[in-house]
Amino acid sequence: MIKIGIVLGSTRPGRRGDQVARWVHERTAGRADAEFEVIDLLDHPLPPLAEPPMANPGRFPDEHAERWAEAVGACDGFVFVTPEYNHSVSGTLKTALDHLHAEWAGKAAGFVSYGSAGGVRAVEQLRLVCGALQLADVSPQVTLPLATEFENFAVFKPGEHQLTALDTLLDHVVAWSTALAPLRNGDAEADIRAQIDRIIEGLRAKDLEVLKRVYAPDVVSFDVEPPLQHVGLDAKLANWAKVFTFFEKVDYEIRDLTLDVSADVAVGHGFGRVSGTLHDGTVTDGMWVRATFCFRKVGGAWMIVHDQASVPLDMATGRGVTDLEP
Ligand SMILES: Cc1cc2nc3c(=O)[nH]c(=O)nc-3n(C[C@H](O)[C@H](O)[C@H](O)COP(=O)(O)O)c2cc1C
Repeated sequence: MIKIGIVLGSTRPGRRGDQVARWVHERTAGRADAEFEVIDLLDHPLPPLAEPPMANPGRFPDEHAERWAEAVGACDGFVFVTPEYNHSVSGTLKTALDHLHAEWAGKAAGFVSYGSAGGVRAVEQLRLVCGALQLADVSPQVTLPLATEFENFAVFKPGEHQLTALDTLLDHVVAWSTALAPLRNGDAEADIRAQIDRIIEGLRAKDLEVLKRVYAPDVVSFDVEPPLQHVGLDAKLANWAKVFTFFEKVDYEIRDLTLDVSADVAVGHGFGRVSGTLHDGTVTDGMWVRATFCFRKVGGAWMIVHDQASVPLDMATGRGVTDLEP
């Protein structure tokens, strides 16, 4: 089922926005066509933008940015609940939008705005920003002037007709988010196979920078040699760096790779073999290991979050069996 994030775009103390976001969320309760979640920017205190998100897809300058990417990446579409500040959106919402790129693309966006003049100008600006992010904006919107929809300009008391407008908006966001699914998913299997090819490319070139683009920062690797686990990107790369110290020339082969791919998680298994020429000139075919890969889509890129390489154990001797062929 698709997921729609209701992004609450105001973080001001005493904000009216929380009442509006709650109203939107409550209205979604009876719907079976999508799940809905409020994403409150107060829960995502993002620092000023440090680097353009397109520069390093899947890499984030800090933990807040990473959590924000996860929250947005998990959604298929959005309802932006936006105030109007000086004819535009809040600075907080703009910063949150600018922090990401791939996570917004190919999704749908609808708008519920409020303010002295109903927030229509903020929405017009938001539509332009969405265009730049490849977020498809739907036409129906909900406009909530403080004078008519808020008692004493403070307590949100929307007219009945606003529910009809909200339902229409939600219908469109769900329909567009659903229709855009093929665009979002692309050819995931081809993208994952390209990542596996990148491992081969990185090993042949003995280039840790290439390998770095394959593994998630929090990868947990059960590699064939001790320790029991290699936790984190640095540990994984250190293990590959160790391989480079043995080999003058190194190669890597994968056979029988099978992948099972869903929206943002994929698993794969096959047989892998590191071979090459040692520093003393010895040519070695290496050994075949059983390889398991678990990928997660992070920031639009498929990254390995877990892998395992193993050989069968000979129970009688307690030794690994290293001479099996796939
Ligand atoms: C700095 C500032 C600028 C505002 N500018 C506008 C404006 O240009 N047009 C408008 O209709 N309302 C404007 N308002 C009124 C807000 O839209 C209204 O206060 C709204 O409740 C703000 O959202 P919030 O309470 O969730 O922060 C402005 C409010 C603030 C604080």
